[in-house]
Amino acid sequence: MADLLNYAGKRVIVSGCFSGMGEATARTLVSIGAEVHGIDYKQTALSLASFTNVDLRDPASIDAAVAKIGGPVDALFNCAGLPQTFPPLEVMKVNFLGTKYLTEKVIPLMRPGSAIASISSTAGLGWSRHVPLLIELISQPDYATALKWLEAHPDEVREGYSFSKELITVWTMFVSSKLIKQGIRINCTLPGPTETPMMKDFLSATPETVIDAATQPINRRSTALEQAYPLIFLNSDLASYVNGVVFPADGGFMGGVTTGQVDIRAMMGG
Ligand SMILES: NC(=O)c1ccc[n+]([C@@H]2O[C@H](COP(=O)([O-])OP(=O)(O)OC[C@H]3O[C@@H](n4cnc5c(N)ncnc54)[C@H](O)[C@@H]3O)[C@@H](O)[C@H]2O)c1
Repeated sequence: MADLLNYAGKRVIVSGCFSGMGEATARTLVSIGAEVHGIDYKQTALSLASFTNVDLRDPASIDAAVAKIGGPVDALFNCAGLPQTFPPLEVMKVNFLGTKYLTEKVIPLMRPGSAIASISSTAGLGWSRHVPLLIELISQPDYATALKWLEAHPDEVREGYSFSKELITVWTMFVSSKLIKQGIRINCTLPGPTETPMMKDFLSATPETVIDAATQPINRRSTALEQAYPLIFLNSDLASYVNGVVFPADGGFMGGVTTGQVDIRAMMGG
């Protein structure tokens, strides 16, 4: 299987390699022969080709990391994220603005055949209700104007987390049409509730019954590794015709909602 995935000797970047899904992704990629360059604002315990301390809230630190890692980059894994227990604009900076900025800095280092996979969330399910608004923000010319837009729209940003995930989802679909012209693919995943350090933040902000309702119909939380595997697949040669896809890794939740088999009243607290 490692041969089919074809990661041996590939230079990859994993953001959020300190814990959870990013840690599981980086660890697995090392085990199948990739040259893994990790970035996080917390020091990793993994033995990687390189680790760079990056705060995704700070574009200058992203610039410095990308310059240090250099090219070529065969795959980028956007795994870093903050939960809604942090201030909304910080959440937006890490989950969307910084992730998009990092990706845009890495793209010039990518050759045809390279790929990008980001972690979005079922928390961003509301994206389909306001695509034009999301594209308005996605299309801002640079980081500073996008940040200004966010500061001017607190009613859209709300707690930050859901909006940031709506943006990652729609941005993935939006840029995929352009990037594929350079031979670069981009996809994202929608994990269901997953046992990682972030879960304690979710549990402090949301009743456990609501989180458990989102594990229907599989009726258990995911492990970090079960989220790493789809990301590794999406960025591998096995997925060479998969582009612009929003991939639910949710135990069947989305399928159950669409076909009316999942009781979403439990998620509304009713
Ligand atoms: N755990 C879940 O149930 C769940 C469900 C859906 C989506 N997600 C998403 O999965 C992704 C991974 O989260 P996780 O569950 O593995 O949690 P986690 O907290 O274990 O991982 C998040 C990682 O991001 C890093 N990070 C946070 N802020 C940063 C910053 N400013 N600069 C650099 N790195 C930073 C953290 O240090 C950590 O390594 C996140 O985008 C999260 O929103 C999680």
